[in-house]
Amino acid sequence: MVDHAVLTARGVSYAYSPGHWAVRNIDLAVQAGARIALLGANGAGKSTLLLLLSGAEHVCNGEIYLNGTLAERSRAGMRRWRRQVGMLLQDPEDQLLAPTVEQDVAFGPLQDGVKEVEARELVQQALSRMAISHLATRPVHELSLGEKKRVALAGLLIQTPSVLLLDEPTAGLDPGGVRALRETLDSLAAAGTAIILATHEVDFAYEWAAEVCVLFEGGILARGAPAEVLADRDMLTHASLEPPLLLEAALALGARTPLPRSRTEFRAWLRTARRMIP
Ligand SMILES: Nc1ncnc2c1ncn2[C@@H]1O[C@H](COP(=O)(O)OP(=O)(O)O)[C@@H](O)[C@H]1O
Ligand SMILES: [Mg+2]
Repeated sequence: MVDHAVLTARGVSYAYSPGHWAVRNIDLAVQAGARIALLGANGAGKSTLLLLLSGAEHVCNGEIYLNGTLAERSRAGMRRWRRQVGMLLQDPEDQLLAPTVEQDVAFGPLQDGVKEVEARELVQQALSRMAISHLATRPVHELSLGEKKRVALAGLLIQTPSVLLLDEPTAGLDPGGVRALRETLDSLAAAGTAIILATHEVDFAYEWAAEVCVLFEGGILARGAPAEVLADRDMLTHASLEPPLLLEAALALGARTPLPRSRTEFRAWLRTARRMIP
C-alpha cells in the first residue's frame, strides 16, 4: 500500500539509449491539490519524467502507482491512466489533431463512447471554463500559441483528470497569458487536482509552487519549500539556474520568513520595512 497519494513514482529511471540515463531513480509522491514545480535546465530530464508519469513512455526501472495501485500498461490500464492523468505537451501543435476547436476538445469523450449530444454539452463547459467559448468553431491552425494552449488544456480538463502534468506551460505566453494560466491552475488545485509543472522559469515556480523539485542530469538535486530550496544559490548554480529575483531582492534587503512570494507581497513588505527604518 502506497499512502494516499494520487500519483506515486518509486525508483523511476529511463534511458533513450542504453547507458544514457535521462531520468534516474526518481521517487515522488503527489497528493490531491499538489502544486509541484519540476525545475531544471535544458536536458535535466523534466519532459522525460512527465512523459513517464503520464504513461506515454514506459519506465526502464521502477514503478508508477495511481491511487496506491500499480499502474498497468494493459489496454484497460492505459485507458484509466490517460483519464486520470492529463498531460499538456510543450508544443500544442503536437497535441491538437482535429480541424476545429470543438472537434478537438470533443475527441476524448467521443473516444470513450460518450454520446454526441452529451459530448457537445461537455465541450461547451470545458471551453467556457477556459474562457474560449468564442473560439469553438475556429480552425485550430489559425489560433495564437496562447489560444492553442488553452484549447489543449480544455481537451484535457474535459476528461476531469485527477493529475495534470504541464510541460513548460508558460513558454511563449505574454504576461496576460501567464496570469490567466496561473488563475486556471490555482482554481484547479483548489478543487483538488494535483498539478506538476515542468519549467526552467524559477520566478514563476517561486510564486506558484507549494513544492519545488530541482532536477539535474535526470536526478533530484533538491526538493522542498520554494523559499528554502530556491535560496540555495550554490545548488542552483550547479543546476544551471539562478535564484528568483524577488527572493534574492527580499533576502538582500533583510527580509525574514514569511518571505514575500509575489510582487504585491514584495511591495507590501517593502512599505512596512521602510517604515521600520529610523
Ligand atoms: N527523443 C529523445 N531521444 C534521445 N534522447 C532524448 C530524447 N529526448 C530527450 N533526450 C535526452 O534525454 C535527456 C533529458 O531530456 P528532457 O527530458 O527533454 O529534458 P528537459 O525537458 O529537462 O529539457 C537529455 O539528455 C536529452 O538529450
Ligand atoms: Mg523539456
